[in-house]
Amino acid sequence: MKKAVLVTGACINTGVAIVEKFASEGYNVIFTGRNAEKVHAKEREYRAQFPNVEIIGYHIDSLLDERTVDEASVEKLFADLDEKGIFAEALVLNAADQGLGQKIFENPLTDMMKVINTNVVWNYCLSEHAAKRMKEQGGGNIVFVNSNTAYRAIPDRVAYVASKGGQLGLMRALALDLGKYNIRVNAVLPGMIKTHRWEERPEFYATVPSRFTPIGDVAVGEDIADAIYYFAAHARNTTGAELVVDGGNTIQLYPIIPKG
Ligand SMILES: NC(=O)c1ccc[n+]([C@@H]2O[C@H](COP(=O)([O-])OP(=O)(O)OC[C@H]3O[C@@H](n4cnc5c(N)ncnc54)[C@H](OP(=O)(O)O)[C@@H]3O)[C@@H](O)[C@H]2O)c1
Repeated sequence: MKKAVLVTGACINTGVAIVEKFASEGYNVIFTGRNAEKVHAKEREYRAQFPNVEIIGYHIDSLLDERTVDEASVEKLFADLDEKGIFAEALVLNAADQGLGQKIFENPLTDMMKVINTNVVWNYCLSEHAAKRMKEQGGGNIVFVNSNTAYRAIPDRVAYVASKGGQLGLMRALALDLGKYNIRVNAVLPGMIKTHRWEERPEFYATVPSRFTPIGDVAVGEDIADAIYYFAAHARNTTGAELVVDGGNTIQLYPIIPKG
């Protein structure tokens, strides 16, 4: 079996940094996105960038509708990897429904379901299918890209915050149940990350309170990728652990915002 890392949601932003980190360390990489054209374009780019490793993209969506996780497409993805003789020894659960601007009293319940179903149930489904192969192969590891909002809430993101809290419980439960199969499960908790959204809304991000961290900066994708790589490639005796990468944001009682 050829070994690889499987990274979800890796056509843009943090997912790209994660693929680049693992590929530059010599890992074969399987990645996902929802849009077939974008996945194929990104696959071509990654292959040109990293000619010495194997890189394969799959387009896959988490849900059939708000209430239903698309388990069949997860099964299909892993069956295809089996057929190709590829073993995902590491699974990085990066993709997330951000559930932006969901307001209590305004959004329908299905908006809540959509976010929880993607961020918790779909990730459980991916973990289960990956762990089945890891168990057969004698071990492996899973890394959740979680969020410091699992610890501290932010406004108008009720579903997202609940989903990230749920993800941490899921991470611990999986770590407990899968340890005996030599499968480690851990979580990286980013604070704010610079993504394309920073270029699209510079005026918003210039004053957003979460950018005022003790170290005076927010993460870039590479910071998150390094932390994930630590769990996946090192950390032999670490499972059920959380690594916060937020410039110290959550240790503050309130952000110290410079006047002017
Ligand atoms: N950005 C931040 O400031 C921040 C802060 C804390 C934690 N995080 C966490 O870090 C991770 C990456 O964040 P990011 O900002 O780089 O993410 P992003 O730009 O929002 O990208 C998320 C990825 O998830 C995929 N995705 C979204 N909904 C999906 C669905 N229903 N089914 C399958 N895939 C779906 C997207 O796929 P498509 O490419 O097909 O759209 C995209 O590739 C996430 O887990 C996020 O919660 C981010």
